[in-house]
Amino acid sequence: MVYILLIIFWASISSSSGQQYYDYSDCSLDPDSYPGSRYTCNSSQKSCLTFLVYRANQQFQTLSNVTDLFQVNPDESNEVLRLNNLTSPSKMLPPGREVLIPINCSCSGQFFQANFSYVVPGSTTYSDIACSVFESLLKSRTLGEENQLQENDLKAGSKLHVPLKCACPDDFSSSKGVKYLVTYPFVEGDTLDLLRMKFGISLEDLCAANLLAPNPTVYPNTTFLIPLKKYPIMNLQITDSQPPSPGFLPTIDIETTGQSKLRTLYVVGSAVGFCLVLVALLVCGLYVKALRKWKVERLLSFNARSSCSIASPRSAQTARSSTNSCLSPDLLVGVTYSLCNYSIDELKRATKGFSEDARTGDQAYKGMIDNVQVMIKQMRFEDTRQVVDVHSKINHINIVSLHGFCYGENVTPWPYIVLELPSNGCLRDCLFNQSNYLRWHKRTQIAFDVATGLHYLHHCIFPTYAHLSVNSRNIFLTTSWRAKLGNVRPLKRNSSISSSVKGWVAPEYLLHGSVSEKVDIFAFGVVLLELLSAREDMDGRLFKDSTGFLGGASEGGCFERLRSFMDPALKQDYPLAEALCLAVLAKACVEDDPLHRPSMDDIMKVLARMV
Ligand SMILES: *[C@@H]1O[C@H](CO)[C@@H](O)[C@H](O)[C@H]1NC(C)=O
Ligand SMILES: *[C@@H]1O[C@H](CO)[C@@H](O)[C@H](O)[C@H]1NC(C)=O
Ligand SMILES: *[C@@H]1O[C@H](CO)[C@@H](O)[C@H](O)[C@H]1NC(C)=O
Ligand SMILES: *[C@@H]1O[C@H](CO)[C@@H](O)[C@H](O)[C@H]1NC(C)=O
Ligand SMILES: *[C@@H]1O[C@H](CO)[C@@H](O)[C@H](O)[C@H]1NC(C)=O
Ligand SMILES: *[C@@H]1O[C@H](CO)[C@@H](O)[C@H](O)[C@H]1NC(C)=O
Repeated sequence: MVYILLIIFWASISSSSGQQYYDYSDCSLDPDSYPGSRYTCNSSQKSCLTFLVYRANQQFQTLSNVTDLFQVNPDESNEVLRLNNLTSPSKMLPPGREVLIPINCSCSGQFFQANFSYVVPGSTTYSDIACSVFESLLKSRTLGEENQLQENDLKAGSKLHVPLKCACPDDFSSSKGVKYLVTYPFVEGDTLDLLRMKFGISLEDLCAANLLAPNPTVYPNTTFLIPLKKYPIMNLQITDSQPPSPGFLPTIDIETTGQSKLRTLYVVGSAVGFCLVLVALLVCGLYVKALRKWKVERLLSFNARSSCSIASPRSAQTARSSTNSCLSPDLLVGVTYSLCNYSIDELKRATKGFSEDARTGDQAYKGMIDNVQVMIKQMRFEDTRQVVDVHSKINHINIVSLHGFCYGENVTPWPYIVLELPSNGCLRDCLFNQSNYLRWHKRTQIAFDVATGLHYLHHCIFPTYAHLSVNSRNIFLTTSWRAKLGNVRPLKRNSSISSSVKGWVAPEYLLHGSVSEKVDIFAFGVVLLELLSAREDMDGRLFKDSTGFLGGASEGGCFERLRSFMDPALKQDYPLAEALCLAVLAKACVEDDPLHRPSMDDIMKVLARMV
């Protein structure tokens, strides 16, 4: 609750200030939905003097090489020397030495830009110019768009217009004393901590200027804006020191639409949910006394491993196959938990050369690596980074874990991720299998495990996280029939949901794309109904009909109707009152009105008494 309010608070301060968005995606990639691939000009200040940071490299080794590239006015060369604490423009700079270059930034249409021209020295690509020569100070897509030339026609002598990313402080930042927004390109090994020390500003200010929640993960080949209140001075001593180990904290937060409405929604929702659960508790209470003590002990011993407090990062990075590694270091920036570095040969061996037999879905394969069953999925570079990012914040026994990944071959440049694949497959298949049916106590255990995993996502990490695709195909069972939630993915901002949504889902999500934990609660209710009946219901009509009797309107026959709803494979080999208790809980979860659904906290209280 407090977290949600914090997020809402955060979202409201950031939207009122109108700073610039950080674009997570690699310089050469252009997921077109990303804000921040250029900085928008939305302030009364339409142009300004500002700075950018450039690093000396093989091609541009001296300050004069760099000032030539950026067409710095010769009158200003002394100023540039002073700015960079150098005495001679022709002194060789160590590779990676950062220099500050003053630029004129101005608003051109929708975006800020600093105009430069570049004469192509030989055959090259837009991505090479934008990402290597100009060190990601603009995206290759922007460069392509601003120049009419086809990429194939780039040849020695072609003159390109190069609009570099820059920004002027908006009215809000100016009122706080920010004078310059320096464009800084991130490279591998950079952390916000280093940046903070180099420029002597606080992490909060850094993050706020880039519209990021505190402690985000940042990536190489992207740019960051550094808000400075005075003329820049870079502390170069820091550059040489050992980078401190990067901290890890979430970047993905739950979309909050209609913030104040949502706030009331949560308050009221929890209150109503709690009342409903009190009723459910009363029903269940009758059963609690009958529980045997060993069950409680079993529960405690299991849960000692899955409480909120142990979500600590695992040990430092482990390199598996250091010689023929195919892991791109780009993916690992900022990752402080252990991930394996698989070689493409290992993956080929595991999947028999990505054979049809091993295929389990679109771009997904299963296989064995070191006698452990794994799922291998190929996905876009950007998505892989986000999956790594999400999993780096999640470590829970009831959530399928990420073992590692592999950068892929040159021919197939998309990376692979390697995930745990619990051996008994997905819950839907297990429920479908009538011959080897799930006994009652396994089903309550599965419900409890799923609830524990969701409770962790909703309450134990920060910012809180909504899974949004909880269903019986995304729940996997281990050899000992414990459940793990799979398919934990980064939330796509503003992506169209309707196409990806399958089955009976929360109506507010389907209709308005409204995203909150309550969507997961609804989905959990559906999973409970499937556990009870083993049926699958794509539109909810069947489930609504068969649980209508729980409304209390109908008189008598309640147990009869429950029995007819239950999975016939159970053959009445289950405690009727427990089944009723789960059915009541499920019904509360699938209420149309999210306000009436209980919270995961409430659900845990009910289930913990049953397992
Ligand atoms: C600036 O942003 C605000 C909201 O963020 C918007 O209402 C306004 O129209 C924008 N102004 C310009 C000039 O784009
Ligand atoms: C860099 O400067 C040196 C001399 O200062 C010059 O010889 C060299 O050609 C320059 N390189 C580029 C890429 O301009
Ligand atoms: C500038 O360089 C001199 C030596 O070249 C060094 O002693 C001094 O600390 C540097 N100043 C800053 C602010 O880095
Ligand atoms: C910025 O523009 C002014 C006037 O147009 C010019 O005098 C100055 O040299 C420019 N500064 C840079 C860094 O290009
Ligand atoms: C920068 O280039 C754009 C064309 O892309 C042009 O419209 C704009 O006037 C130029 N700005 C300056 C300050 O020269
Ligand atoms: C990303 O940045 C690294 C340096 O940190 C550079 O070597 C590499 O070429 C860049 N990647 C792309 C795709 O430009």
